[in-house]
Amino acid sequence: MKKININELYKMKAQGQKIVMITAYDALFARLFDESADIVLVGDSLNMSFGGKDSTIDISVDEMIYHAKAVKRGLKHAYMVVDMPFASCATLELAVQNCAKVCQQTLCDAIKIEGGAELAPTIKLLKSAGIAVVAHIGLKPQHSVREGGFVVCRDESTALSDAKALEDAGAAMLLIEGTLSHIAAKIASSANIPVISIGAGASTDGQVLVWSDMLGFFTDFKPKFVRRYMDGAQLVKQAVANYADDVRSGKFPTKEHEYEL
Ligand code: KIV
Repeated sequence: MKKININELYKMKAQGQKIVMITAYDALFARLFDESADIVLVGDSLNMSFGGKDSTIDISVDEMIYHAKAVKRGLKHAYMVVDMPFASCATLELAVQNCAKVCQQTLCDAIKIEGGAELAPTIKLLKSAGIAVVAHIGLKPQHSVREGGFVVCRDESTALSDAKALEDAGAAMLLIEGTLSHIAAKIASSANIPVISIGAGASTDGQVLVWSDMLGFFTDFKPKFVRRYMDGAQLVKQAVANYADDVRSGKFPTKEHEYEL
């Protein structure tokens, strides 16, 4: 399969062909998702679903790089985006240093930064350095401590002006999370760049879900916008219980699992 580049994603938007995005945190699953997904995101959600933490705040640039390098090894086809962690782009200097480090070490196609119009100068600078940026607007999990929780975006004028400012600054794509769907629809119809939704309705250019949510491996809670396509946790628990039963009862291993002379 041919590797997807940014021009193909723009063509998909122009032709009204929906863009499919999914997260991945390692090579094993990236390889499984590569055939069906157009974009694979190494999301900082890995801190929660993979790392067992309560938020996305305490993950480092180096930890993101470790996971992104693994995902890269699993991909032949999908466009790869890597999340920049909390405060890693808090100043222009930090942004260039950290984003360049992520791009050089992981060979990703783009990085993603959470924030609104205040990020316009950062995105302009990163673009001039040759770095493609996905701007993450709407509900911003990295801002959850400051905002006192995961706050759904209902403020149309802020969302529209954030989207416009970030596109004008040179963002390659927009990701809009946890936002009223009519607001996301307006953004997608006026933007010239692809707009991907998570919990922002069906009228955008594409959708993203966190893999461990949609495959039912992360069961601590299920966000409203998730559809579960598999009960992964139950399947894994059952398979491991079967293995344990077989070992304890002497049914595994058998002759067929032994080496011969
Ligand atoms: O970290 C993540 O997985 C995300 C989601 C919005 C897709 O940013």
